[in-house]
Amino acid sequence: MTDATLADLRSRFAGRLLSAPEDTAPFLTDWRRSWTGRALAVAQPDTTADVAAVVRWCAARQVPLVPQGGNTGMVGGAIPDDGGRALVLSTARLNRIREIDPINNTLTAEAGCILATVQQAAQEAGRLYPLSLGAEGSCTIGGNLASNAGGVQVLRYGNTRELCLGLEVVTPDGEIWDGLRGLRKDNTGYDLKQLFIGAEGTLGVITAATLKLFPRPAARMTALAAVSDPHAALRLLELAQRRLAATLTAFELMSGVCVALVARHFPDCRAPFERTHPWYVLLESSDPHSEARATQAFSELMEEAFEAGIVADAAIAASLAQSDGLWRIRHHLPEAQSLEGDNLKHDISVPISAIGEFIEHTSAAIVAANPGARVLAFGHLGDGNLHYNVSAPYGVPQPAFVRANGAAISALVYEAVHRVRGSISAEHGIGQLKVDKNAHYKAGVEMALMQKIKQALDPHGLMNPGRLLPGASHRAH
Ligand code: FAD
Ligand code: MLT
Ligand code: ZN
Repeated sequence: MTDATLADLRSRFAGRLLSAPEDTAPFLTDWRRSWTGRALAVAQPDTTADVAAVVRWCAARQVPLVPQGGNTGMVGGAIPDDGGRALVLSTARLNRIREIDPINNTLTAEAGCILATVQQAAQEAGRLYPLSLGAEGSCTIGGNLASNAGGVQVLRYGNTRELCLGLEVVTPDGEIWDGLRGLRKDNTGYDLKQLFIGAEGTLGVITAATLKLFPRPAARMTALAAVSDPHAALRLLELAQRRLAATLTAFELMSGVCVALVARHFPDCRAPFERTHPWYVLLESSDPHSEARATQAFSELMEEAFEAGIVADAAIAASLAQSDGLWRIRHHLPEAQSLEGDNLKHDISVPISAIGEFIEHTSAAIVAANPGARVLAFGHLGDGNLHYNVSAPYGVPQPAFVRANGAAISALVYEAVHRVRGSISAEHGIGQLKVDKNAHYKAGVEMALMQKIKQALDPHGLMNPGRLLPGASHRAH
């Protein structure tokens, strides 16, 4: 592309256009430094009309377009390939909260709004926007929607898909679809917003969304419980669901290996116990009515868990600061793994009842084939989502280990997932990391239907090509 071409693009919209290598570099590598691409430029439109102008410019010149939000994704979906032909469309400047309607319990935000900003705006209006994940200080509403993010409260409030009532989207030919309806009931045909949610930018650019708000809980109770194994964690889950019902809002599993890893990289993030334990559960309840009721129900639950021998030790947070301290252990896990080296990630989903045996058998098989390999198993146990990651044995360089054994280990994990009718991507999406695996495990009919939808909406294949579905610019990790 020539300077004249970029000047032409620059003249089409009012936002910012970055083309100098030092300006575009942060948009061309993901946060874990697993993928680096090249791009013609990075466009940062200010308004939906400007997004449409940029998309039309790309469509007219057959320029591939890669939408990018906070660039916190785990699967390389927001990073262009290394061809240098694509334009990255960053939503960073599309960041206004357009409306909060406390009676309708809705908030309408532009796609580039940071998740924490939306949570804060909901809180100031006396409401809760419940999506919560470790990257909430930098991920965006558009990225959450495009990847159908999950996080730590899915068991109570659902994935991002369930939190969205309406969307505004720029289609691949540059038309604006205003579907920003705040309705709980709308049976007027295909639910088009669901096509764009979880599409990872392959069907259009999400520019704004109307999100569901909830009442703010009156009290929050948090505990870290030490258990002997994932089977005990499942018994605790059953008990917690029986006693706390819908007030149970988070139930996170972490192996002792994971907790030790966090302590090694972040010495002030330690489990508050005298000795180490093989497994931990971080659980939280959010009572809508009263603190006293929350405290009583939670204490009774922990007492019963002790008496039944399910829990070996437990720390119940007595203040917000203590609760934050326990969550810091959990939320530092992704970064601790990254500091340890780029390990093999498996974001998988299996029936909750199968998790105990899954971890037992799969971990034994991995260690038997790769003596010393470290399985880092943690995740959102309450909704069946495990982050089942594998690191090299101590002393073995991570890249060499992954090169030599990665494919075989991942195949072993995904075969085990497939046997229990699980999913090879629970919440992170497919991006460029799992394109081949998805095509392998999804039924032929399902893949063909997805291809037909892609063909119908984006016949020239310009929207995030090679991501999610196999395409020309797809290259394996
Ligand atoms: P990006 O990474 O910029 O993009 C993600 C995908 O969405 C790409 O395919 C991109 O092309 C597309 N996209 C972005 N914006 C748009 C748009 N406006 N229109 C169309 N397509 C778009 N994820 C979870 O699900 N659960 C977790 O618990 C979780 N924990 C995390 C913890 C940490 C510390 C980190 C770093 C990440 C975590 N993630 C988690 C992954 C990530 O944060 C989420 O996937 C998040 O939703 C991505 O948002 P983003 O704005 O960074 O999107
Ligand atoms: C998390 O839940 O912390 C992230 O989704 C997981 C990860 O780092 O793999
Ligand atoms: Zn997660």
